[in-house]
Amino acid sequence: MNSATLQELEAIDLSDHALWRDDPPYEVFAQLRAERPLHFSPISQFPSEPGFWSIVRHEDLKTISMDYSTFSSERGGIMLLDDIGVPLDLMRMQPIAMDPPKHDRMKALFQQAFTPRRIAAHTEVIRAITNHALDGVAKRGECDLVKDVGAHITARVIGSLLGTPEEDDAQLVDWSNIILGYEDPDYRPDFEGVTAVIAQAFEYVLPKIAEARTNPTDDLTTALAQAEVDGDQLTDAELVATFGLLMAAGNDSTRAVYGQSMLALMEHPDQRQMLIDDPSRIEDAVEECLRCFPAFSYMRRTATRDIEMHGQLIKEGDKLALWYISGNRDETVYENPEVFDVTRPRVQHQAFGAGGRHFCLGAALARLELKVMLEETLRRFPDMELAGEPVRAQSLFLNQHKLIPVRFTPES
Ligand code: HEM
Repeated sequence: MNSATLQELEAIDLSDHALWRDDPPYEVFAQLRAERPLHFSPISQFPSEPGFWSIVRHEDLKTISMDYSTFSSERGGIMLLDDIGVPLDLMRMQPIAMDPPKHDRMKALFQQAFTPRRIAAHTEVIRAITNHALDGVAKRGECDLVKDVGAHITARVIGSLLGTPEEDDAQLVDWSNIILGYEDPDYRPDFEGVTAVIAQAFEYVLPKIAEARTNPTDDLTTALAQAEVDGDQLTDAELVATFGLLMAAGNDSTRAVYGQSMLALMEHPDQRQMLIDDPSRIEDAVEECLRCFPAFSYMRRTATRDIEMHGQLIKEGDKLALWYISGNRDETVYENPEVFDVTRPRVQHQAFGAGGRHFCLGAALARLELKVMLEETLRRFPDMELAGEPVRAQSLFLNQHKLIPVRFTPES
């Protein structure tokens, strides 16, 4: 896109899916960072919804993320639409859509169950799951990297942690796509249909919680059901909501980064070769992948009072989109931010949030999964290449592809 005049820039509707068809509108974000760091858009796809302010600079993302009393996660949840078909009260039972003091309690209970030790102990399980998924395509010499590989791995990893059986993975992926992928008719063909999905999810999870309370195992569902801080435990409804958050975050996030990272490596064979020759570089490369391709383009906040920013008035109740995809390409922080460079030193990014209390609780798991998934894919299929046009999910929220056709030398 040629750079827009200031007037055109002001009139841009960032929610227009046409802008996002092949990639997020990175040029628009670059121009906004330079000329219009606080920008207002309507939501033309859903005209009954109030519009939103865009926060695009790295520093502003940080400031807002730290100031939870002015910029609430709880008041309107973390999606730009007030109504995605999921009751706001249900979403507010998840830590991601809570402010203190509710958030303090939930985070403490959550961290008691989802420990670094539990995640690290899962390393070899993750490697086995990854290789099992790769075995499934190895002899074919071609596949869809999203559905045939990425989705299987991330679903099984979170399923194995939560203690759900493998035969339920496809159903759980489908549910999380329906809930988070509300803008894409492939993911959610019937917008209202989500109500039935929520009812089914409750029916699915409640017996698992009852079981975890009476017959404890060493899975994460049991650990969450039994977590206790100052004599306080999670209620059944909170457990179902948390289970849902983990399922959705576990499925829709790492799969997204894996797909886009593999795409970038196929487009940059020299960098891919560097990682194949020296896999010890993959851990750092994952950070550059997260910088360039964060799984979620934004999270929302809602202003709790009138506040002025960059000479404009944000009113109490206004929505703000914290665009991580923009903060991660801020030229005041990164040299040549649009360039994918796995040798970039010490990459600090905002893919897991821009700081503060909502920093992603699954970051260690996501980093580990991505490292193992890239290690094994590059080791087994070093000549993987694109075999058709990748297709992005239609979504402002999910920064992901729903199809990445690839081919490679089959394993004998
Ligand atoms: C590459 C993968 C991932 C990315 C890019 C990512 C990104 C994020 C971001 C941006 C937030 C902050 C939300 C905010 O500030 O409003 C967040 C929060 C969260 N994430 Fe992740 N996530 C990933 C993977 C995961 C995984 C695998 C899990 C767990 C299975 C997870 C669980 C959570 C939870 C529970 C929160 C809420 C934390 C809180 O509000 O205290 N995430 N994630």
